[in-house]
This record gives sequence, structure tokens and C-alpha cells, in this order.
Amino acid sequence: MSGNNIITVHLFDQEVGRIDLKEKERRSTFQYNPEFLNRTEFQNIFPKTGILRTTSYVQLFGQFDSPTFNGLPPQFADSLPDRFGSIIFKTWADSKSTDISVLEQLAYIANRGMGAIEYSPGKTLPSAASIELNEIIEVLKEVLDLKNSTQGNRLNTQSLVNIFKIGTSAGGARPKILISENKKTGKIIPGDLEYSEEYEHYLIKLALDDEENYPRELVEYCYHLLLTSLGIHMMPSKLVEDKHFATKRYDRQHGEKQHVLTATGMTGWDYKDPKVSSYENLFKLASFLKIPHSETEELFKRMVFNIIYGNTDDHLKNHSFIYDRTKDRWHLAPAYDVTYALNPLLEFRNPNRALSINGKRNKITADDVYKIADDFTIKNPKGLIEEIQSKKNQLIELFDEYKVPEQVSESIEKKLITLL
Ligand SMILES: Nc1ncnc2c1ncn2[C@@H]1O[C@H](COP(=O)(O)OP(=O)(O)O)[C@@H](O)[C@H]1O
Ligand SMILES: [Mg+2]
Repeated sequence: MSGNNIITVHLFDQEVGRIDLKEKERRSTFQYNPEFLNRTEFQNIFPKTGILRTTSYVQLFGQFDSPTFNGLPPQFADSLPDRFGSIIFKTWADSKSTDISVLEQLAYIANRGMGAIEYSPGKTLPSAASIELNEIIEVLKEVLDLKNSTQGNRLNTQSLVNIFKIGTSAGGARPKILISENKKTGKIIPGDLEYSEEYEHYLIKLALDDEENYPRELVEYCYHLLLTSLGIHMMPSKLVEDKHFATKRYDRQHGEKQHVLTATGMTGWDYKDPKVSSYENLFKLASFLKIPHSETEELFKRMVFNIIYGNTDDHLKNHSFIYDRTKDRWHLAPAYDVTYALNPLLEFRNPNRALSINGKRNKITADDVYKIADDFTIKNPKGLIEEIQSKKNQLIELFDEYKVPEQVSESIEKKLITLL
């Protein structure tokens, strides 16, 4: 390996290895640091799903050439910004009149990325003591072209630097930022670098009054309350200013960074590829990782919930696993991004879900669900379906309580599915 195409990967203060990316050709190599392989700890940080082999030889990756991976091994592509983060990256680059390569993106992500993987050498950015949520939102509206610029130069301000720092790492398409809130003083600072017991670390999905024209984050919050009442594990979440959805980060807990990978990052199954996007694959991955059976059962409940409550956007990057460094093993991560996925104010006929069940993406029946229960030894699937289905009224009551507009609530209510 030579030249400046190389970036070094670290985890838990260990050098894990090096990535060499040929960006134009969309291929890369990875080489483990032999010292890392000689350790007894942390040998399962990248489960052996057929991508990274346990060898100190250079490993070549040419198959990950889609935009999801940009040529990188999927474990590291997970660190790259997604749709929203990429817009911010581009605006930032434009404001500096430069292009930012994929490896430079990783260098900017450095030690501020989601999860615990870090990259060096990193690029430093000026730090900010505190941030002003409303200012961030105003600048974001300009970045996303939701409003004509009134101040002309706003996209060159400190706020853009802040947005760049706190808005590029988390994946997904919706506008979001990472913040840390001081437990004692309530002061909010950028959430890219701080991680300690003194702070709560949140991912905030921002309500920007955008083209969707309904309070999406409020609906997501009501879904969160419903999921929690069903015993589906989510991080504690709250509304900020009655409209933004703030969820505590599972990759920052107990004052430590937690190592996490999405199902796509773990397997190289592109979340945009229907051929690999199925619940069967997700359950197979879960059983390959030997997660406890109670968590497989929870995954089943999440699947049933997604069917009944219209979360069709249940793709492979909306499911993650979290690593227990003391036991060198994996668990199902808390659920996230579970909400009514489509705009309820628009009409969609038989929308396809991202993950198929028994080969189907819509009109799923209880029999399709029982097939999965059978294959993965889930006991009493009928009882679980009944329990989840019985909460429909509670969702509508939550909508009422949190003042979700009636039109939205009624439209979602009509589209809820009856499996039994
Ligand atoms: N509570 C959380 N803690 C840590 N990471 C999270 C949390 N919620 C979401 N994420 C990560 O951030 C990404 C984007 O969040 P998501 O809710 O999926 O947003 P979007 O609606 O834009 O897809 C997810 O794919 C996941 O990797
Ligand atoms: Mg998502």
C-alpha cells in the first residue's frame, strides 16, 4: 500500500488495520494490523460473514461498487454519510470551493463518527462551546433549499461548520443532528466529540416544515411510545420544543463509545437491492450472530409491528447490531426509525415494503408470518400478533394526546393492517 489513498482504522484504542481506496475504480483493499490479529480480545468485531477474512494478507474488495459502499468494505461504508449527510458534505465542500473524496470524508469523520470505529489521520475542525438549535435550523433550511437566503452569506458561517460537524455522521435521509446535553446544566453542545457520563447524547431528527407538510417527527414520537409499551426495546426519547424527535444514542452509553454495525454494514447486503432484502436474511444473520433467543423473538415482534403499523421503510440499514466488548459478542441494537413510513396525506396503492416476507413485499398474511415463526422457532406467534394488533386504538389516542392533525391520524388509522 502506498500514497495518500490510505487511512488507518482504530477501535477501542487499537489499530485494527488500513484501508486503501481507489475511488475512481470503486475498489479498495484492507489489511489487518498483524498485532491486532494476535490479540485474544475483540476478535469478533467484524463477524465472519464472508467479507473480511482473519488474515494479515492484503484483502481486495471490488464487489462493493454501488453508491451504498463507494468501493469500501461495508463495515467502513457504514461510517460514511447517507443522503442527508452527503448534502451537508457537499454544501460544506462547495463553500470551500473544493471536492471532498471518500477517504477525506472518513478523515473528517475521524473520531466523530457513529459507533466506535475511528479513522486517522483525521482532519480537525474548529470547536464550538455551545450551539443554538434555532440558528442551526434556519441554516439547514437554506442548505436544503427550503427557503430563499435572506442573509446571503449564511452558508459560510460558523453555523455551517457546526452543522457539518454534527449533521454528517448519522445515516438516513431525514435532517438530523447529534448533540450532547449536560445532565446538570442542560447546556447543549455539538455531539460529535463529547462522550462522558456528564452528558446525555442525543440524535435529533429535526422538524423543518419541509415539503412533506405534516409533523413527521411527532408521528415518530407517538410510534416510539407505542413500541415501548409493547416491550420493544428503544432508547429513551423525547420531543424537543414539542416537534423535534430526540432519541438517546445507543452508540454512546455508560460514558463510552459502543461499536455498532447495520445489517448492511455487517454483511455487504446492499439495503437498496431487493434480491437480498428479506426478513429471512435478517433472521439468518441474527442466528449466525448467536444473539439470545429473546432478541430473535423481539426481532419477530418488530417485524409484525412494521407490517401492522405501516413501517414499510424497514430496510437493512434500519436494523443494527451492537457489540459487547467484554464478551466479544453481538446483540440486537435497540429499534429506531420505526414510524408510519409514507406520507399519510398522499395515496399509495399497495406500497411495497423494503424487506420481503416469504417472498412478498405487500399483502402479507398471517400465514407468511407463521412461516418465519416456524423457521426461526418463535413460540406463540399468534399471541404476539394479537398483542401487537390490539394496540391500534392506543396509537390513535396517542395521536390525539400529542395533537397530530386529525387528517393525518385518520389517514394512518385507515391504512393500518389487520393480520388476524
Ligand atoms: N438512537 C440511536 N442511537 C444511535 N444511532 C442511531 C439511533 N437512531 C438512529 N441511529 C442511526 O442513525 C441512522 C439514521 O437514523 P434514522 O432514524 O434511520 O433516520 P432516517 O429517518 O433519516 O433514515 C440510522 O440508520 C442508525 O444507524
Ligand atoms: Mg433510517
